Amino acid sequence: MSGSRSEVGARLGATATAGMERWRDRLALVTGASGGIGAAVARALVQQGLKVVGCARTMGNIEELAAECKSAGYPGTLIPHRCDLSSEEDILSMFSAVRSQHSCVDICINNAGLARPDTLLSGSTSGWKDMFNVNVLGLSICAQEAYQSMKERKVDDGHIININSMYGHQVSPHSVIHFYSATKYAVTALTEGLRQELREAQTHIRATCISPEVVETQFAFKLHDKDPEKAAATYERIKCLKPEDVAEAVLYVLSTPPHVQVSLVLTAPTLEEPRHLRGGQQGGLRGWGERPGCLKPCAFQQIGDIQMRPMEQVI
Ligand SMILES: NC(=O)c1ccc[n+]([C@@H]2O[C@H](COP(=O)([O-])OP(=O)(O)OC[C@H]3O[C@@H](n4cnc5c(N)ncnc54)[C@H](OP(=O)(O)O)[C@@H]3O)[C@@H](O)[C@H]2O)c1
Repeated sequence: MSGSRSEVGARLGATATAGMERWRDRLALVTGASGGIGAAVARALVQQGLKVVGCARTMGNIEELAAECKSAGYPGTLIPHRCDLSSEEDILSMFSAVRSQHSCVDICINNAGLARPDTLLSGSTSGWKDMFNVNVLGLSICAQEAYQSMKERKVDDGHIININSMYGHQVSPHSVIHFYSATKYAVTALTEGLRQELREAQTHIRATCISPEVVETQFAFKLHDKDPEKAAATYERIKCLKPEDVAEAVLYVLSTPPHVQVSLVLTAPTLEEPRHLRGGQQGGLRGWGERPGCLKPCAFQQIGDIQMRPMEQVI
């Protein structure tokens, strides 16, 4: 998949486009909306007519995006909200402001995340905490608050989408992202746990994780903030996804009918298939539908197979 800003949603079929109709004028929270994937998702949702609360620490970028959406005449609105997702207090006060100033959160896109280059053998505890606080705790608090907000207003068709990573399903040989990968494995477990608890609560609110491969954003430049050349190389050595590709996947997930639950792995189609998919199907947007309570064999099966191989074959 590749995409440009104006194209987001354009490649969805008529059924998916119709599926987005039910979300018009409803409220979505997008975390990490100040850049990269979060900004693309926020823009795409505003284009589809939703009211979007976009949060992050850098307000200026979200304000610019809100103005851009307004001048483009998109049917929805983007409401910037400053929130440090490593602070429980900030998150709770954001949800309280949304409740009092708007309505309940119908969709929660847990996108904010970061990686610090703190390895397991010599990295700092503070770097680990930075990642854990946002990628795991911030995401979990937002998911819980979003669920409570939906429950209070008797919203039974809400959706919580966690932006995970391929590294939430396989451990990379790059030591600088081992701890990051652990936080993303947590996202895999948290999303499945959430799905089970939602089922137990007999609600039709859905939980989905989307696991992209490398996406060209500022992510690597923040990870390697002392070595911009290394960061740039991350995006040069392979064909990357664009933030708009992930935004389109979010629209697809939201547009599925309420009885369908989707999890997605996003890969960029390359001439040489990524090593963890060798022997598997071609790249692109791959997904599978599953009925609540009935997990089916899925695309991750391929990754599971590869993890079972001897190390030399994986690297
Ligand atoms: N890029 C990739 O290759 C890739 C691949 C797979 C998955 N992902 C995942 O996709 C998500 C988005 O990443 P991206 O590539 O778009 O990265 P990005 O361009 O660096 O954007 C990260 C976003 O997270 C926000 N954020 C970070 N710390 C925060 C905090 N303490 N409080 C509030 N917001 C915070 C940032 O906002 P502020 O700094 O303004 O607060 C920014 O909006 C992450 O969860 C990442 O793990 C990325």
